[in-house]
Amino acid sequence: MQQLSFNDQVIWFEPSLLTNIDHSQLAQIFEPEFWQQREAIVGSACGRGTTWFVQLEQMQAALRHYRRGGLFGKLVKDSYYFTNWGHTRGAREIEVLAALTQHKVHVPRAIAARAVKHGFFYRADILSERIPNAKDLVEILVESPLAHQVYYNIGVEIKKMHQAGVNHTDLNIHNILLDEQQKVWLIDFDKCGVQAGDAWKAGNLARLQRSFIKELNKCQIHWQQADWQALLDGYNA
Ligand SMILES: Nc1ncnc2c1ncn2[C@@H]1O[C@H](COP(=O)(O)OP(=O)(O)O)[C@@H](O)[C@H]1O
Ligand SMILES: [Mg+2]
Repeated sequence: MQQLSFNDQVIWFEPSLLTNIDHSQLAQIFEPEFWQQREAIVGSACGRGTTWFVQLEQMQAALRHYRRGGLFGKLVKDSYYFTNWGHTRGAREIEVLAALTQHKVHVPRAIAARAVKHGFFYRADILSERIPNAKDLVEILVESPLAHQVYYNIGVEIKKMHQAGVNHTDLNIHNILLDEQQKVWLIDFDKCGVQAGDAWKAGNLARLQRSFIKELNKCQIHWQQADWQALLDGYNA
């Protein structure tokens, strides 16, 4: 990753993944309008905000503006208290993605991130690789059930993430993707970090189990308790 520093903003970027962008345009790649003008927006997904999918020269990317969730998020939508550049949301997520990639966990590659400071606060964005032809577990399970082998593989992937020491503070079924080969991908590492010990690991799994139950009640996903056991079997293998 290279870094460009200005008075009020820092941009981290991987030049090899941004071959058709020049340095003078780097600040604009975090604006959906920039891609709109180039007719390079190929889709979008809704989470906390809108994730835009954009076409780069070699791949598609997912562009996300960091937003808060929860009640506090309704008041302060996208500003975070600034301490230092290395601790901004995007810088942190880049670090976590790099650590996970090193441990061979299936996660998107980070392409670029930025933080823009305003007074005591900052706003931040990240551009990461879009996993080609992938859907999240909610989308998939609304349509049909999944084989135990897939749940087992999801358990294996979460275990790999935990062995890398990464605490996924928002491990839910919107943040697990399957591609066309049914390969498992983990996404959305905002606020996540490498953490010592293992008391938090059970917490990640409990949150994920609650997420299955929540979507079962909300969207009638095709899921049952035995599927959870298959996932745990993979995790404990
Ligand atoms: N790298 C990616 N590849 C494919 N789809 C993605 C990727 N990142 C996000 N998405 C899609 O966008 C949705 C929202 O993105 P996410 O990173 O989870 O942000 P948030 O939950 O904070 O809104 C995801 O649930 C997923 O469907
Ligand atoms: Mg998410």
